[in-house]
Amino acid sequence: MDLSIDLCGIRLKSPLIVGSGPISYGAEGMIRAFNHGAGAVVTKTIRDQAADNPFPHIALSDAKSLVNAEKWSDFPARQWIDQEIPRAKAAGVVVIGSIGYTPEAVDHWICDVDRAGADMIELVSYREETIREMVVRAKRLTDKPVFVKISPNWPDAVSAAIDTLRLGVDGITAMDSLGPVLRIDIKTGRPMLGGAHGEGWLSGAAIKPIALSYVAEIAAKTDKPIIGLGGVMNAEDAVEMMMAGASAVGVCSYPIIRGTKALGTLNKKIISLAEKLGFSSLSEISGYSQPYLRSGENSTKFSFSYNPDICTECGRCVTVCPYEARSMVGRQMNLDRSMCRYCGLCVTACPTGALSRSEVTG
Ligand SMILES: Cc1cc2nc3c(=O)[nH]c(=O)nc-3n(C[C@H](O)[C@H](O)[C@H](O)COP(=O)(O)O)c2cc1C
Repeated sequence: MDLSIDLCGIRLKSPLIVGSGPISYGAEGMIRAFNHGAGAVVTKTIRDQAADNPFPHIALSDAKSLVNAEKWSDFPARQWIDQEIPRAKAAGVVVIGSIGYTPEAVDHWICDVDRAGADMIELVSYREETIREMVVRAKRLTDKPVFVKISPNWPDAVSAAIDTLRLGVDGITAMDSLGPVLRIDIKTGRPMLGGAHGEGWLSGAAIKPIALSYVAEIAAKTDKPIIGLGGVMNAEDAVEMMMAGASAVGVCSYPIIRGTKALGTLNKKIISLAEKLGFSSLSEISGYSQPYLRSGENSTKFSFSYNPDICTECGRCVTVCPYEARSMVGRQMNLDRSMCRYCGLCVTACPTGALSRSEVTG
């Protein structure tokens, strides 16, 4: 299967776009990510002053999620324009220049970021009120495709995304990290991060369902491309993100936690999973679930199927049943139908697929 995609007329060798963050701290990291398989890389966010980060500013929250109090780029904007973007471009990287967080920063930097060679621009803001004005100015100053990155911390991110599309934005990135959040190191009682009040932002697996919901809602309202970013940590997540409506898949925590080399593995796994699921192209996957999401009512009656040949007798299905409807004696699976409320949790908890759902028709 061909992994390449078209994003606003630009051919990307992979649907994976490395989101703005520590991997894209400068040209070096961007080139590494691109050479290991990223289709494009978003620069760390460029703004008027270089960031002064608290220490420490990144911690694992669980095995697949991070908390961070990292600000925008700690390189001055000039350095991005004179050195980092031209170096990344010379190495062949498809560069998306991230500019934040005010309309003035757009005025100050977008023309130079464009001239330095950025293939696209991504606008990001902590505050929903500023994003529309940032878009108006950006569309006046550049002909390059402009994406708006929405934030789950805005009061109404979907409406803001739709408004910016009406203002001419070429695509949406959904989404930024979620916050404020807090983790405490119980050995010291101190916060894990050094930010204001020890608070930071959550990313990785923990936020995937939120990002999926934004992608699905926005995809239902536009045909413009969406970069689905938030919690993609394996090929299954990437396919899920595309099914919701993403045309490209953003990853930030994944290459941080697994290493940039893992981008190549993820590309290969996306191909084999897509083929296993019966798809012959990535474009077939993009938006595949939209008809189900638009239908209004997704409640379908089902019955359980059980395959003892692949059951490992782990007992997860019994443990998670809130109603004590399930019991197992060896590989004899029992279900007390008078207690079962058909919540479906046992099926999702089964690690091997021994327990599955079959639709009941009529
Ligand atoms: C350590 C760290 C630093 C980040 N810095 C930026 C940034 O400078 N600008 C930005 O737009 N997003 C930044 N992000 C947010 C990511 O680009 C992304 O939106 C978020 O992490 C969700 O994706 P993920 O779950 O794949 O990590 C950062 C994320 C992390 C983890």
